[in-house]
Amino acid sequence: MKKPFVFINAAMSADGKISTCERRQVRISGAKDLERVDSLRASSDAVLVGIGTVLADDPSLTVKAERRRAERKKAGKDENPLRVVADSRARTPLNAEILNKGAGRRLVAVSKRAPAERVKALQKKADVVVCGAEKVDLAVLLRTLRQRYGVRRLMVEGGATLNWSLLSQGLVDELYVFVGNMIIGGVNAPTLVDGEGFKDNFLKLELLGVEPLDEGVLLKWRVLAAGARQHDEKRKYGCDGQVRVRRGGQGKTDAFVMHGEDSPL
Ligand SMILES: NC(=O)c1ccc[n+]([C@@H]2O[C@H](COP(=O)([O-])OP(=O)(O)OC[C@H]3O[C@@H](n4cnc5c(N)ncnc54)[C@H](OP(=O)(O)O)[C@@H]3O)[C@@H](O)[C@H]2O)c1
Repeated sequence: MKKPFVFINAAMSADGKISTCERRQVRISGAKDLERVDSLRASSDAVLVGIGTVLADDPSLTVKAERRRAERKKAGKDENPLRVVADSRARTPLNAEILNKGAGRRLVAVSKRAPAERVKALQKKADVVVCGAEKVDLAVLLRTLRQRYGVRRLMVEGGATLNWSLLSQGLVDELYVFVGNMIIGGVNAPTLVDGEGFKDNFLKLELLGVEPLDEGVLLKWRVLAAGARQHDEKRKYGCDGQVRVRRGGQGKTDAFVMHGEDSPL
């Protein structure tokens, strides 16, 4: 399947929580990490979130730095990447920041379950694409993003349920996690990855980098999912356009990690 290069970026507490048990947004990142996130967003063709995050946090997902928006415009792009919501039942509020703040296109991915009148209302603010019968079929969505919207690099910004679906379906190439210096706790507080969880055959990761940042640490992982392994084969045989980067930016010359041409690393 031709899909974009997909990476998840998230911030979690030292105990692995991404918000509180009331699903209240917590500022986990420091200033440097927020800059890093803004730069990643500006370098992406599209940003994807689940409807849970839209309802809980009401994020705009715009590029914050004016100079980055200007650079995008200079390169002939919209100021902000395409903003995409996985929202099977078309519950995205019409006054949501993601639909209203900042220039650029929006896409709401719904399933066949979405009520027609909600879809019609959303179409005034965004493109609406139907993928899947019950839930948004994420593989179909990714293919659509690549083929119909020309998305080569997709940044996923949560939340826990969407992360699980993408990871468990082998659709994620890399995972960047800022681990902040706090404990949130709470058995019902969302973690980086929720969903059903793996019973065995756990998803394996390869460490790409560790970097102290702000008062915490940034971890960069490559996902060794089935999908990613197929991707690897392509790289091995040189049909996927590739660059070589140093592992972890530690200045070592002996260990190299391969990335697809669309990796932001
Ligand atoms: N710290 C961070 O980096 C960070 C980042 C983002 C979010 N968050 C936090 O994460 C929490 C939200 O996470 P969440 O798990 O509740 O919501 P979520 O992952 O943002 O969204 C999940 C919802 O997306 C919809 N969806 C549609 N198709 C799907 C599919 N194939 N697989 C999975 N979901 C699909 C489902 O609702 P429908 O069935 O209605 O479609 C599902 O309930 C909030 O508390 C927020 O603050 C933290």
